[in-house]
Amino acid sequence: MYGKEIARVLVSKEEIDARVKELGRQIVEDLHGESVTMVCTLRGACVFFADLIRAMDCDMEIDFIAVSSYGGGTTTSGEVKMIKDLSSPIEGKNVVIVEDIIDSGVTLSYLKRMLEAREPKSIKVCTLLDKPSRRKVDFKGDYVGFEIENEYVVGCGLDYDQHMRNLPDVCVLAPEVYTK
Ligand code: PRP
Repeated sequence: MYGKEIARVLVSKEEIDARVKELGRQIVEDLHGESVTMVCTLRGACVFFADLIRAMDCDMEIDFIAVSSYGGGTTTSGEVKMIKDLSSPIEGKNVVIVEDIIDSGVTLSYLKRMLEAREPKSIKVCTLLDKPSRRKVDFKGDYVGFEIENEYVVGCGLDYDQHMRNLPDVCVLAPEVYTK
């Protein structure tokens, strides 16, 4: 199905669908009947987010935030820029930040600290993918879909230079693509 820019499928859509259902159930269970604000971090989390919220049978609001720690390339610059803030206050609310990937941990540790300062009732982080071997700052997700090795992955919201977010599976990018 994919061209030669894709080395292989790492996590298939079927595996993602099954894991998303488990994560959704777990988050709802941990809320003990309370409502939640699900925060989608643009742009990468949009695909996972849309699936996850539909796997959650509970009362919720959704909101969107955009921060960026990357330039156009493949390595983190260590800087986090706020691009779009939440539309509504989160004070006193249960919040779950939804991400596509935790890599260095820089983005999420910044984002979590920034949102914690707004005094939500609780704040948790749910990520589809986690690359623990790449951490530059200590950070742990509360809900993790899949731990993966240090490979360049695209699809299911993850991009290479803003492309390939629409691939249904999480795929390993062929090294020729980013080394040329
Ligand atoms: C990616 C990803 C996370 C962050 C993870 O976002 O969505 O937000 O990098 O990396 P870190 O743990 O090293 O901080 P990116 O800034 O590329 O924006 P995007 O969501 O628009 O792809």
